Amino acid sequence: MKYDIRKLRLISNEKIADGIFDMRLEYGDGEIPVACGQFAHVYVPGKSLRRPISVCDARGGELRLVYQVKGEGTKIMSQMKAEEYVDVLAPLGNGFNIEKGRRYALIGGGIGVPPMLYTAAKCENPLVITGFRNESLVILQDDFVKAGAELLLCTDDGTAGKKGFVTDLIRENIGRVDEVCACGPTPMLKAIAQVCREFGKPCQISLEERMACGIGACLVCAVKVRKNGEEIMQHVCKNGPVFNAEEVVF
Ligand SMILES: Cc1cc2nc3c(=O)[nH]c(=O)nc-3n(C[C@H](O)[C@H](O)[C@H](O)COP(=O)(O)OP(=O)(O)OC[C@H]3O[C@@H](n4cnc5c(N)ncnc54)[C@H](O)[C@@H]3O)c2cc1C
Ligand code: FES
Repeated sequence: MKYDIRKLRLISNEKIADGIFDMRLEYGDGEIPVACGQFAHVYVPGKSLRRPISVCDARGGELRLVYQVKGEGTKIMSQMKAEEYVDVLAPLGNGFNIEKGRRYALIGGGIGVPPMLYTAAKCENPLVITGFRNESLVILQDDFVKAGAELLLCTDDGTAGKKGFVTDLIRENIGRVDEVCACGPTPMLKAIAQVCREFGKPCQISLEERMACGIGACLVCAVKVRKNGEEIMQHVCKNGPVFNAEEVVF
């Protein structure tokens, strides 16, 4: 795993939905060495632990992080202003494995939607399925269309898009794709893994665990996976965050 610590100039940090912010950081010329589904570990002034945030986009010389204010760290991030420098450790983890010639369904639930944007940009004609609790939390719809995705939207209460869950939409559309990639709350990932198993489709899921070091040195982010019939512990930060759904012991 090759990563770097950089201080990146903050271009903008705008609120794009209820409690959700879009941070754009100047990375410099050339392609940013990051794969879709990888994450950045962001230093928050005054906090000893960095905050893991998925790479939402990395095109055009900008590293884009879309995050929801949850506690003190993300609140401090939301108050950072343009021209400040943000200390970022990246790229971290193993992202989604995208192969040419396959059609992917990219499924994001809530704040699991952002990493699907850069993933969509790396896929041919992806089907993107996004789900949110309600209209006030809907994000990135125009960005997915611009990235060339076929886009479906649902909300739990029907205030935007179709009323229902991403699992309903993937069940209706799974016959049109070769493989599924998903990021979101664990119960959602578990349900998607079950649908994929039922229909015999490969499925990659991005897991979220509390993190400290972010580089495989502290064991905070351990999860149980099954390899060659044996249950073993692996690190979400180093071996993941993306795992083959069939290997995860939920
Ligand atoms: C691989 C990965 C990618 C992520 N990508 C995104 C993203 O793109 N956008 C987004 O909004 N959120 C993302 N998260 C969740 C985000 O890291 C937490 O919401 C954030 O760390 C909360 O920090 P806080 O200080 O505001 O909250 P607090 O609850 O005050 O945090 C206290 C401590 O717990 C850790 N922590 C709390 N919740 C989480 C969590 N869910 N996951 C990991 N550590 C946590 C914090 O990092 C901090 O060290 C991701 C998490 C992981 C593991
Ligand atoms: S966060 Fe330290 S090992 Fe994963």
